[in-house]
Amino acid sequence: MKQVSLTVNGEAVTAAVEPRTHLADFLRSDLGLTGTHLGCEQGVCGACTVMIDGKPMRSCITYAVACDGSEVRTIEGFDGDPLMGRLREAFSTHHGLQCGFCTPGMLITSRDIAGRLDGPDEARIRLELSGNLCRCTGYVGIVEAVKSVLAEGRTVPADIAVKPRRAAGPATFERRSDGAPSKPSPAPQQAELATRATDRKNWTVLAESFDVPHSPDDVWALMQDVPDVAGCMPGAEVVEFDGRRLRGRVRVKFGPISAAFEGEGTVDSDAAAKQGTISGEGADRRSNSRAKGLVTYRLVPEQGGRATRVEVQVEFQLTGMLAQFSRSGLVKDFAHRLTADFARNLSLRLSGEGGSALPAGETKEVNAIALIFSVLWRRLKSLLKG
Ligand code: FES
Ligand code: FES
Repeated sequence: MKQVSLTVNGEAVTAAVEPRTHLADFLRSDLGLTGTHLGCEQGVCGACTVMIDGKPMRSCITYAVACDGSEVRTIEGFDGDPLMGRLREAFSTHHGLQCGFCTPGMLITSRDIAGRLDGPDEARIRLELSGNLCRCTGYVGIVEAVKSVLAEGRTVPADIAVKPRRAAGPATFERRSDGAPSKPSPAPQQAELATRATDRKNWTVLAESFDVPHSPDDVWALMQDVPDVAGCMPGAEVVEFDGRRLRGRVRVKFGPISAAFEGEGTVDSDAAAKQGTISGEGADRRSNSRAKGLVTYRLVPEQGGRATRVEVQVEFQLTGMLAQFSRSGLVKDFAHRLTADFARNLSLRLSGEGGSALPAGETKEVNAIALIFSVLWRRLKSLLKG
């Protein structure tokens, strides 16, 4: 069990939870906050959306321990919120709900749209809502409800105004009988996840950064030695690497869809600037989907050169059946999950523990650019081993 302390709907909560407990289960079972609904439990439908440190997140794929020190707000926490009150009314007026199963998540996302965006048009509203699925309404009423509230003007009370995401707290993990680490691991230096989706036509851009307690020279030196990435990321396998070109496969399990991308990539780097790019392209024959990606990474000295911030920007495009997973809400959650998993493995490595990328039996979501991202990850794992 792991002790976790967080704020839920303005109240401090401390509890002992299994490291694998998802936030949604913790909220519903431990705290009795059943307003958070569980649909797919795989990060696809958005029914479980809650606000974590001011951002809408999937609580079904977020570990409760990863929220240590965070501020969580569920649908119950918006009871006194005027803007949410207007949205609730508008959902009712415009027939934005039928069975109501999607409604808590839909309202939280809508509240985020209304509080964050200034005058979004319908296309933008639909894009923002695209990570929340409704099987009843056809979305027209929901979109109309959000539009009507936006047309009235927005009011964001100070006490629940969208807050900047706090730096992720140190994560520690314990070994369980199934082989995961037993003693508390030193905390990773991972500091924050900054994810953004841009409007570049048909491309999604994610920016992420994390800190490692080693100098840029050391990090860079290790990043030049591309190791075997097989096993680095669940589902990813490099079958050839000649120092610049790589060829590999990525098995994708995202929600109900499985796919196996096969593709090639190219690694280029600028040692003087300590930055580089990794580009790649692949296809999955079964889903008739294609993926292209470009990763740009840069090392920035921190703490007088004793530490390094690794900044990574990932641009990717998915076409074919899997293109639906380019929807911003899903991508943001996925990037968060990927980084959380990365932080977990960083902890294992810092403690000298082995460990797989995800706990045994865990769903292995890997997006189409994961193979490329995993090159960075594998190099850092090697660094931390040293
Ligand atoms: S229950 Fe979390 S996204 Fe569906
Ligand atoms: S109202 Fe039934 S799923 Fe949305």
